[in-house]
Amino acid sequence: MKPKAKFLFMVILAGLVGACMFRTPDKKEANNNWLKDEEMIKRGQHLVTVSACHDCHSPKIMTPLGPEPDPDRLLSGHPQDEPLPPVPTGSENWILFNMGLTGFVGPWGISYAANLTPDDTGTGSWSFDQFKLAIRKGKYKGLEGSRDLLPPMPWQMYQHFNDDELKAIFAYLQSIKPVRNLVPAPVSPNDMPLN
Ligand code: HEC
Repeated sequence: MKPKAKFLFMVILAGLVGACMFRTPDKKEANNNWLKDEEMIKRGQHLVTVSACHDCHSPKIMTPLGPEPDPDRLLSGHPQDEPLPPVPTGSENWILFNMGLTGFVGPWGISYAANLTPDDTGTGSWSFDQFKLAIRKGKYKGLEGSRDLLPPMPWQMYQHFNDDELKAIFAYLQSIKPVRNLVPAPVSPNDMPLN
């Protein structure tokens, strides 16, 4: 290669490398921009409301008319400092809910509604793909090969949300107040404390 051509070649190469270096972060940002899209978040809020996620996932305040979602702890799952009372013997043919509708007893043992807020103890470190797998395949933490989600999480119904709806729900969940709450692990039927 002649020196002039070589110089030109180097200039073009440097330009290309530079363009790639500058483009990468932009692209990454653009990929996640939808998470901050106000319209998307609003739609997600609507879907979460009408799909009754609060029924199980929000701790409640008890009112004369029954439990209502606690606005300070929305979607943060079964409170870590609220142990369930022992399971009454003779209730084998019943499914039991605690007063806050966040803890559940049935033939599967004891399950607790998960923390869906963007804290480390919730979905803070989750990717959208994890969320999608959790809802579509009913897998704990949305990881391939992890345990199946327990009842009464109705993922068999929610798996019919389309991709856009799931994106909107995830964007909303990532936008709400993070609440630190390490939900207890489920209990197998043989280990349930009986009364
Ligand atoms: C009838 C109660 C109920 C309703 C309604 C419900 N969930 Fe759940 N959900 C649960 C329970 C209980 C668990 C924990 C199951 C387990 O530990 O295996 C759970 C777990 C999850 C998980 C997995 C969390 C993890 O750490 O793996 C996600 C995600 C989730 N729910 C999202 C939702 C969304 C979004 C909605 C509304 C569209 C919703 N849930 C409505 C009861 C419910």
